[in-house]
Amino acid sequence: MNNRIYLIGFMGSGKSTFGKKLAKELTLPFIDLDKEIEVKAKCSISDIFKYLGEDTFRKMESDTLHELSNREEFVMATGGGTPCYFNNIEFINKKGKSIYIELDIQSIYNRLSQAKNIRPTIKDKKEEELMQFIKDKLKEREPIYKQAAVTINGLSVNLREVVSKLSGNW
Ligand code: S3P
Repeated sequence: MNNRIYLIGFMGSGKSTFGKKLAKELTLPFIDLDKEIEVKAKCSISDIFKYLGEDTFRKMESDTLHELSNREEFVMATGGGTPCYFNNIEFINKKGKSIYIELDIQSIYNRLSQAKNIRPTIKDKKEEELMQFIKDKLKEREPIYKQAAVTINGLSVNLREVVSKLSGNW
């Protein structure tokens, strides 16, 4: 079994929460890509966006993804945009196994409206703007997320089922 597992999906889809559980079940180290970027930059994601801009963040994100992927085994929660820049989805699929945590627009909205402030791409958006942003971004990103080796439903994630899929021939 290939032991590099990447969780991809929209903000709020539960990549970190599920990633920690999956890592524990598989006894693999858990990596949170956003946290690793913050440690490396000695700065929060919000401040990187604020002071250095999104383009710089995307470059740092991609570089950190590449560096960490030299490790042999892990479960990594990527950021919502990670697979969508610099052909990172291809890189991810070459290096390991990707799992897309799919979630419907309304559920994403419900989760994000509770946790906007820590996310620079949405923190200043009002209700309708947030809904429109999610619709537009998801439409743009979904074709990339769907290139994952496996898609799972974010509302009914079954840990055992995912583990058995991971051990199968995919
Ligand atoms: C982003 C998602 C965030 C973080 C950054 C940008 C995005 O990660 O990387 O704020 O563009 O979707 P989460 O998906 O973990 O919130």
